[in-house]
This record gives sequence, C-alpha cells and structure tokens, in this order.
Amino acid sequence: MMYQSPDHFLWGASTSAFQVEGGYQEGGRGLATTDVQKIPEGRADTKVAADHYHHWREDVQLMAELGLKTYRMSFSWSRIMPDETLTPNKEGLAFYDHLIDALLENGIEPFVTLYHFECPQALVDAFGGWKSRKMIDAYTAYAKVCFHHFKGRVKKWVTVNEQLIAVAAGNLNGNHEKDPFLNLKNMYQMSYHVSLAEHQAFSLLKQIDAEAMIGPVCAMQVVYPLTSKSEDVEAAWQAEEMMEFYMLDMSVRGAYSPFVTSYLKAHDLYPQTEKEDEFILKGSSPDFIGINYYFSICAKQKTGPVNYNQPPFWVSDLYDVCDNPYLKKTEWMNMGIDPEGLRTGMEKVYQRYQLPMIITENGMAVSETPDEAGVIDDHYRIEYLHAHLEQIYRMLQEGIDIMGYCPWSFVDVLSSHQGFAKRYGLVYVDRTETDPKQCSRIRKNSYYWYQNVIRHNGIE
Ligand code: BG6
Repeated sequence: MMYQSPDHFLWGASTSAFQVEGGYQEGGRGLATTDVQKIPEGRADTKVAADHYHHWREDVQLMAELGLKTYRMSFSWSRIMPDETLTPNKEGLAFYDHLIDALLENGIEPFVTLYHFECPQALVDAFGGWKSRKMIDAYTAYAKVCFHHFKGRVKKWVTVNEQLIAVAAGNLNGNHEKDPFLNLKNMYQMSYHVSLAEHQAFSLLKQIDAEAMIGPVCAMQVVYPLTSKSEDVEAAWQAEEMMEFYMLDMSVRGAYSPFVTSYLKAHDLYPQTEKEDEFILKGSSPDFIGINYYFSICAKQKTGPVNYNQPPFWVSDLYDVCDNPYLKKTEWMNMGIDPEGLRTGMEKVYQRYQLPMIITENGMAVSETPDEAGVIDDHYRIEYLHAHLEQIYRMLQEGIDIMGYCPWSFVDVLSSHQGFAKRYGLVYVDRTETDPKQCSRIRKNSYYWYQNVIRHNGIE
C-alpha cells in the first residue's frame, strides 16, 4: 500500500545557524550567546560546527540531489545585526543572499527562522537580552531588515524556534539568576517579551510582504498520565497546559488561558505588562504552526517538595515528570521513541487552533561512523522516520492540514547542548568532537531512502 502526499507537500530538512554554520568570526559576524556559553572540555563548539559557512554550495547541491522542496534553516541574528547599535551587516546579508539565491535556483524554497536559540551577546551585555523590553525593539528591527531585504525570495518565516527552550536555557539567553524562584520569574517575564516580539513580527510581515506566511515553532509536548488515577490524568493535562499551550495560546490567541493566568498569578510569576500590550497581542496572528517532535513524556501526581534541579518547565507543584516504562529507549533517545505521540500531540494542536501545521523537526540521534566501505547504514533512522511519516499520513487522510515534513537534520550538526557525537543527519559530516578535519560530507543510507520517498511523494 502506498501513502501519497498532496501535490504541494513540502518535503524538507532542517538545520539551525549556530549548529550548522561555523565561520563564527567571519564576515563581520558578532558573537552570539551560543558562542560564549561554557562548553565542557573535549566537546565541539560553534566555531566550526558543520562548517556550512564554507560548504554551503556543496550542501545546496546535496539538497537538490535529494529532491528537497524546502530547506528549513535559521538566520544567525549576530551575522545580520551584530550588536546593540542595530546596524545591519552587509557581509552577513550577502552570505544569506548567496545561499538563498542558490536554493531558489535549485527549486528549493527557503523557510527561515529568525530566532533559533541565539542572539547577539552584545544585547545581553547591553540590557540583559529578553529580560528587557528593549529586546522587543531589537528583534523588531532585525525582523524588519530581514523582511525587506528578502522580500519575494523568502515566503515562509518562523518567528521563534521552541520558545519553551529558548526562554528556559539561561546559558543561551543570559538568564544567569542564581536564586531558583527569581530565575523562574525571569523566565516567565522573558517569555512574555518573546510573545510581544513575535506579534510585532506577525504584523510587520503583513505590512511589508502580505503574500508571505509566518508562524511560531513549538516544542510539542505530549504528556501521558502515568496511570489512570484521576490525579495522574490531571497532572498530565496541566503539564501540557504549562509547557505547550501556555506559549501557543499567546502566539495564536494573544492571551494566556484562564488556567495559566490563575497559576501564574497564584505563584507570583505573572509577568509585568503595559497598557498597549493587549493591542499588540490581539492585533495579529500566525498563518501556521511549526511542530518539533522527538519524544513524548509522562507525568504523575506531584509528591514531595518542588524540585528545582530539572529543566525549568518541569519545575512545578502540580506534576512530576517521569519515565514512560512502555517505550523503547536508546542511548541518545532516552525519553523513548513514540511515533503515535506525534499524532496524539498534533491532533490536539489542530483541534485547539485549526491552523495549518508543518513538522519542522523530527529525528533520531545516534553516534555513528562510516564502516570500512565508507557506508553509514542508518536503518534505525529510516525506521524512525518511516514510523513518524505513517502517523502523518493517518492525519492527512483525516483531512488535517499538514503543509510538509522537515526531518532534523539535513547534515549532522552540533547538538543544541551535547556536542557533535549526537548525530541526526541524513548526511554524515566527517569530524570529531575535537578535530573538525575537513568536515567532508557522506550521504547516509537514510539520505537515499528519503530521496526515494520524495521522488514517489509518499511511503509504502
Ligand atoms: C530541538 C531544537 O529542540 O531539538 C534543535 O530546535 C535541537 O536545535 C534538536 O538540535 C535536538 O536536540 P539536541 O539537544 O539533541 O540537539
């Protein structure tokens, strides 16, 4: 049996600037928060990453040969607008001009994220980054330059990749507050500022290029109750509200839900707002929602004191995040592999907002090296991607509006926080944690499998 995608289905693949580019001090680029974070000894950093800055021509050829319809990438804010003077860097824009023109010449649509976990360190030094409302103006200035400069060439934009992680990761956003409660309070304030910035970008794009589309990318949270105990079921839905819909409601509806509002107020975490904010938040909305999905999680009734020694969004007096005993786990996919979770989560997002969706990230991490014949036989990745695509076809058959699928990642890239041994790519990048070598590219077996999927516009 063959599952067939709609004709316009966007077969893509993803990367992000700080994870793929390297060239961190070339072409007038300023330092980004991701360049200055402390990295454990012996682990790869952003300096070279996958060296796309020097390999982009070859990468575009590999994308064309693969048959990609779209390339989901991000701009490095620090390459385009390196510091707090908010002056555009011509060399940085020229780098993206060349890349985008090459993509278009090869029939590949650029799909660009403005903010993927990094911003100029200069903005953190000057006013604390997202802790300050000045960051909203800086982001708006940056977005404006991008929308004008790439008008007619970039027709799909993402405002922010995974606000959940972007505001939680203090090492990437400059929230270095030591007191755990104040750190959390900062995080909610920063998140509110990100939402305001995002709505400014929605409105701006409509003014500058009414034809183009824009939306957020969420880190989709699929939270199962550990048991059917009412308290565990309650814990699970509350965890989804606090970790996913809290942000998506702001992106789509411009408001927190009553549940989130009362939680934040009761816990003294409600952000400081200003009068005109409501006008900004309610005055615009996204055209689509991007979905990043790797795994589901479990939650159970909260017991014991609040535990601050875990990811900030798991810190709660409502639920405890816990292991799912039913899922297969691997070294790097230690929360488990759960293709059905993709559908469970996307059905909920669609029912809540009824907006078109696109899978912007989905993939399997493995530490790999080529065998003696130079082959990377990543059959486990093919199985992972195939199983997730099956769930997408179940949704497409129901009539859910899914615009496309972009596995993470096109080439092996630097992990967001775990170096280069954690590989997700369809294309192998020949480097180690400490030795970037030439970063030469080798097609993995999953590359050939995906090429076939795209060629047939579907899977068996
Ligand atoms: C997503 C991010 O959270 O997950 C990517 O948008 C990231 O930037 C990906 O690389 C995989 O996570 P990690 O930590 O394994 O790189």
